[in-house]
Amino acid sequence: MKERLQKIMAAAGLASRREAEKWIAAGRVSVNGRIASLGDSADPEKDRVEVDGRPVGSEGRKYYLLLNKPIGYVSTRSDPEGRPVVTDLVKEIPARLYPVGRLDLNTEGLLLLTNDGALANRLTHPRHQVEKTYLVRVRGTLSRETREHLEGGVLLEDGMTAPARIDKVRTAASHSWFHLTIHEGRNRQVRRMCEAVGFQVSRLKRIRIAFLELDELPSGKFRHLSPQEVARLKKL
Ligand code: URA
Repeated sequence: MKERLQKIMAAAGLASRREAEKWIAAGRVSVNGRIASLGDSADPEKDRVEVDGRPVGSEGRKYYLLLNKPIGYVSTRSDPEGRPVVTDLVKEIPARLYPVGRLDLNTEGLLLLTNDGALANRLTHPRHQVEKTYLVRVRGTLSRETREHLEGGVLLEDGMTAPARIDKVRTAASHSWFHLTIHEGRNRQVRRMCEAVGFQVSRLKRIRIAFLELDELPSGKFRHLSPQEVARLKKL
């Protein structure tokens, strides 16, 4: 999709729109090798936009976003059934972003999106699985036996789960809430673990990946990771 050049530069975090307009007027911006004029547009995914000869956007810059995925969004770039996809929520970023791993349609919470394929592969590779914490709500009361069962390992159809950790257990009239920390990343793992011990999960939210926490980020919103956070992720 074509966008005004100043908008592309602002979304890439290079300058305010007004400042970017000055750069265009000064002849510092080019599109596919040709000096741009004020009012020009480009498609950040297809065109090569450069400032002072350095690329802007998808070709030059790596993006690392932490999104609070709402329920009802699919963790892909496009959905054959036409349902909302997580990349709908980061449309202003001028790059082709991919989710790092996935959350189910009905799971909400922390999802990383990036155009850094090497980091995405490392974070999702079974050998380097990082810790993830989920806030889980189930109907009924979590007994000590069930808790020990979930923590010690549950037999699923694709084998035993690795040891997990449960904390912050709260019990209300009809439901229990707890934090479940796992470091594997099997398909629907938390729901299947809970089902295997007789619980139906009524709410599931990922609140942490390694050292990254969701905190107070509103549903549907994202933030850029800081350079320090990116450097820590690369060292995991
Ligand atoms: N476990 C699940 O069951 N669903 C998710 O989306 C993530 C982990």
